[in-house]
Amino acid sequence: MARKQGIGTILVHGAHGVAPSRPVTESIVRSVTYHFDTAAESEQYYHAEDPPYLYSRYENPTVRGAEAIIAAAEGAEDCALFASGMAAATTALLTFGRGGEVVATPYIYGGVYRFLRDEAPRLGLSVKFADAAEIISGAALSTATRVVWFETPANPTIRLLDIAAISSAARSRGTLSIVDSTFASPILQKPLTLGTDLVFHSATKYLNGHSDVLAGAVVGDAVRIRELSLMRRIYGGNLDAGAAYELIRGMKTLEVRVRRQCETALELARRLSRDRRVERVLYPALGDDPDHPLTQQQMPDGCGGVFSFVVPGGLPGASRVYDRLQLVARAASLGSVESLVSLPLLSSHHGFSDAELARAGVDKGMLRVSVGLESVEDLWEDLDRALS
Ligand SMILES: Cc1ncc(COP(=O)(O)O)c(C=O)c1O
Repeated sequence: MARKQGIGTILVHGAHGVAPSRPVTESIVRSVTYHFDTAAESEQYYHAEDPPYLYSRYENPTVRGAEAIIAAAEGAEDCALFASGMAAATTALLTFGRGGEVVATPYIYGGVYRFLRDEAPRLGLSVKFADAAEIISGAALSTATRVVWFETPANPTIRLLDIAAISSAARSRGTLSIVDSTFASPILQKPLTLGTDLVFHSATKYLNGHSDVLAGAVVGDAVRIRELSLMRRIYGGNLDAGAAYELIRGMKTLEVRVRRQCETALELARRLSRDRRVERVLYPALGDDPDHPLTQQQMPDGCGGVFSFVVPGGLPGASRVYDRLQLVARAASLGSVESLVSLPLLSSHHGFSDAELARAGVDKGMLRVSVGLESVEDLWEDLDRALS
């Protein structure tokens, strides 16, 4: 009779042999490590074109599932996911900017701006902030420039930058272009078809869409994404499998969410732009917005669920409107099913000097609204009451 296994062994191996099932949704593979059957298989890991899984900081099946969806949605060869947008952005900038210079537009997410302004130079990257026009003309680029980083639509001004023109200026000088396309999501903007090399998303926002997962994604060609994922092994900013599962679930409704959010945002932006209590509405889908002409080539299906508006009285004026909102949640972030409002001066652009605010186009009386899935009339009632 075979000897009975000890309790220690049973506790570790007892679950093996559960009848195979065929789950419809993705499974969460929590294991951080993976079996090899033989030494030969173990060695194969280093040579195989499509190697088996080895360790979840390298690759994880649930995370790969989410990466496959994002890559396909952007029309890219591959995607690398990270534990947050900032982990993705910093790893990408350190990887591709290495040994040279990063040129970035100043109207980018505050966290990426701070990384480039304060931290990257201490790590040996030289950084230059330049307006889109200086990049497009080539004046801001030099032989040392490795990466051009820009964001469109830009936070919080919802300014559109010409993706095709910036990417082509970068490419003609052998420089990599990376666009932060978070505000657009892959539903409204396809930067790879406009010539950008890599696309970045804070997947925390529209891709997940439910304010409950932090994640960041970079998509592009297989060679660069491989290079990036090798650096992810070193820096270790990996996405957890559970978070990847939630992201996969969130992405199933991405298209319906974003289309509805575009409709609601346009309706609210139109009403606010006709309202005397409001100085200015920033939303390129409005016909009189200076960036409206670019929407045709870049965002023909809508400009997203985020718009900003400026009220008289600077920060105190904006704060009064902010404090009176009842349905729209006073909270940072965007792209969720709940409508959210933020004061850029007290969130993404806190601590910026007047010159930096002016350069980023941020007005002190500005409020940014990220439209959720609530009924448009309820949102309007809330905004109208808050402005009264
Ligand atoms: C446009 C944009 N890029 C990057 C980030 C950073 O992403 P995360 O918060 O997922 O680290 C954010 C976050 O607000 C963002 O709005």
